[in-house]
Amino acid sequence: MRHCVAALVLTGFRITMAGAATPDLAPIQSGLDYHSFANIEQFRVTHLELDLRVDPFFKTLRGMVGLKIKRLDPNATELILDTRDLNVSDVTIKAQDVLGATAKSETTWVSRPFHFQKKDPILGSALVIELPPSQKTTLFVRIDYETSPTAPALQWVGASQTAGKHTGFFFTQNEPIGARSWIPLQDTPQVRVTYTATIHTSADVLAVMSAKNDPNAKRNGIYTFDMPEAIPSYLIALAVGDFQFKATGPRTGVYAEKSVLKAAAKEFADTESMIETSEKLFGPYRWDRYDILVLPPSYPVGGMENPRLSFITPTVIAGDKSLVSVIAHELAHSWSGNLVSNATWRDLWLNEGFTDYLESRIINAVYGEKREMMERVLGLRALKDNLATLKPADQVLAIDLRDRDPDEVFSDVPYEKGRLFLTYLDAKFGRERFDAFLRSYFDHFAFKSITTEQFVGYLQENLLDRYPGIVTPIQVTAWVSGPGIPQDAVLPTSTEFAPVDQARVDWLGGKLTSKELKLTSAGWAAQQWLYFLNNMPARLSTSQMADLDQTCAFSRTPNAEIGHSWFLLVIRNQYQPSYVRLEQYLETIGRRKLVTPLYVELMKTPGGAVQAKRVYALARAGYHPETVAAIDAIVNPKSEESDD
Ligand code: BES
Ligand code: ZN
Repeated sequence: MRHCVAALVLTGFRITMAGAATPDLAPIQSGLDYHSFANIEQFRVTHLELDLRVDPFFKTLRGMVGLKIKRLDPNATELILDTRDLNVSDVTIKAQDVLGATAKSETTWVSRPFHFQKKDPILGSALVIELPPSQKTTLFVRIDYETSPTAPALQWVGASQTAGKHTGFFFTQNEPIGARSWIPLQDTPQVRVTYTATIHTSADVLAVMSAKNDPNAKRNGIYTFDMPEAIPSYLIALAVGDFQFKATGPRTGVYAEKSVLKAAAKEFADTESMIETSEKLFGPYRWDRYDILVLPPSYPVGGMENPRLSFITPTVIAGDKSLVSVIAHELAHSWSGNLVSNATWRDLWLNEGFTDYLESRIINAVYGEKREMMERVLGLRALKDNLATLKPADQVLAIDLRDRDPDEVFSDVPYEKGRLFLTYLDAKFGRERFDAFLRSYFDHFAFKSITTEQFVGYLQENLLDRYPGIVTPIQVTAWVSGPGIPQDAVLPTSTEFAPVDQARVDWLGGKLTSKELKLTSAGWAAQQWLYFLNNMPARLSTSQMADLDQTCAFSRTPNAEIGHSWFLLVIRNQYQPSYVRLEQYLETIGRRKLVTPLYVELMKTPGGAVQAKRVYALARAGYHPETVAAIDAIVNPKSEESDD
C-alpha cells in the first residue's frame, strides 16, 4: 500500500444516529468537493497575501492572511472558509467595501462578525464570516490568526533530527486537505489562487516557498515571495531551515542542509535533461525555475510537487541515481497535477496516474527502456499486492471518498492503475496520436482543475471519436469505474529480471553458493535487487538470511528502498542480527511508504508487536503528525477511534 491503512476505514457507508451503517445510495455529484465547506459558487478567492511569523518554540505560525475575493452571487452575505484548529483573533474588511465612497480612507479596516461551525473530525471547522451586501464584485478580507501546535500539515523537526544537528527544520505538507490547518481559505483544488507572502523567522535560517525563490536571498529573517501562477491550495508550501543552495543547471538547483548539499546536487544532476525531455514530450515548462528542497529523513512522503520547488525525501539519495524516478515524478506533476489539476480528491488519479505515466516516459528518455520497464514491473507487482487487500469499490480510478479521510484511503490504484490506463491508450492509438493528444490536453486545460468526467469527455472527443473503432466508451468506463485490472490491459515485462529469477532459484536450491551469487549479481541495478528480494519465499532459514546479509550487506545498504525490502524479510523471518539496524531505520526514516509496512509486518507476531511498540515509542516524536496517526492505528489499534 502506498499511503497506508485503507483496510481500517469503513466506507461507502454512513454511520446513522443509531450507530448502524447504511449504504450511501445517493449518486456522487461530479465536481462537488465533499472535503470542503467553502461556498465557492458564491465567492471565489483569487489571491492570497500572507504575513506569518514562524515560531518553532511555540510551534505556531502567527500573523494574517489577506484574501482577494470575487463575489459571484450579489446576494450572498456569508463567506464560508475551511479551517482546522485555527485561533482567529480578528476578521476585517476594507471600510470602503462597507461604506462605499463615504469611507474616510481607502486603508481603514473594520471588523466583521464571524463564528466557527462544529468541528468535523476529518474536515475541520467551517469559518463563517458575515459580509455586508454590496454591489462590488471584488472584496478584500483580512484574517488575523494563529495555528495550533498540532496542525496536521505542519512538522516541526527538532535539531537532533536534522543532518546538521544544530538548527531545527520546519515544513508544510498540504496535500490533500492540510492547507486549512495553517491558512483559512477555500481548501478545494478547484479554486486556484496566486499569492504573495512575507515570512518572518530567526535570522539564522532561510525560508523557501512554492513560489519565486531567490537563491541569493540575504539571510536576515525576513523573506518575501511572489507566486504569479494560479495554483490550488494543496500546492502552497513553506519550509524553513538551515539550508543552502547549489545550482545544477541554468534553471535548476538544490536546497539542502550543508552536509547533504553536495551529494544531493550530484544525485539530481540530471534534472535539467529531465525538463528538456519533458518539454519535448508534453509542451513548455511553464513555471520558470525548477528547484528541489531536500527535507530531513522524517519527511512523510517520497516527494511533493510543490510548484517551482519540489520537496524531496533524502531517502532518494542512494549515491547512484537509482531512485531518481521520484524526481522525474515530481517534475512531471508540473504538467499533470500542477498545470491541469484534479478538481476533487475523487479525481486524484488524473494527477497521479498521468504523472506515473509521464514519469515512465521521462525515465525511458533519460535512462533507457530497460530501467523504465523494470520500474513498471515493480509498480505492477505493488498494484497487484495492493488490489488483493482492497474491496472492489476501492479498486476504481474515480473513487468514492465521501465521509472518508482521503489521506487514509489513497492507495496504489490511482497511481499504477492510472499509469496502466494511459499505457493502454498509448498502445491502442499509437504513440504519435497519443502524444499529440497529451500535448493538446495540457494546453486545453492549462491552469484549470478538472473532473474525471471532463477528462473522459475530452478523451471521447479527441481520441475515441476522432479515430473510431479502436477503443469503446464501455472500455473506458471499465478502466475508470470498474474494479481490478481490465482484461485487455497492456502489462509491462522486463527481460532484466530473468537472470535475477534464475539466481534466486539457484541460490535457494543450493545450486549457487553465496560467492557465486556475488559474482553473478555484480552488475545488477537497484531495481534488480528489489526484484530479487521482493520475490523471496515467505520463509528463509536463519543461515540463509545470514548468508545473504554477509554476502550482500543488505542491513547496511545506502539504498532506502532495498533496505525496506530487506527489513521486511528480516521481520518475517525474525532474523535477530539485523534488528539493531531495523530499529535505526525506523527511528530515522519517517517516509510512510517505507516505514508503515514494516510496522504492519512486526505486528503480525506477539514478539514483533512488543518490538514494534518499543521502537515506536522512541520513533513517534520524530514522525510527521499524519504518519503518527497512521502508525498509532497499526501499533495501538484501539486508540484509532479517538479523535484528535
Ligand atoms: N503528490 C504526491 C504526494 C501525495 C499524494 C501526498 C497524496 C499526499 C496525498 C507525490 O507526487 C507522490 O506521488 N509521491 C510519491 C512518490 C512518487 C515517486 C510515486 C510518494 O511520496 O511515495
Ligand atoms: Zn505524485
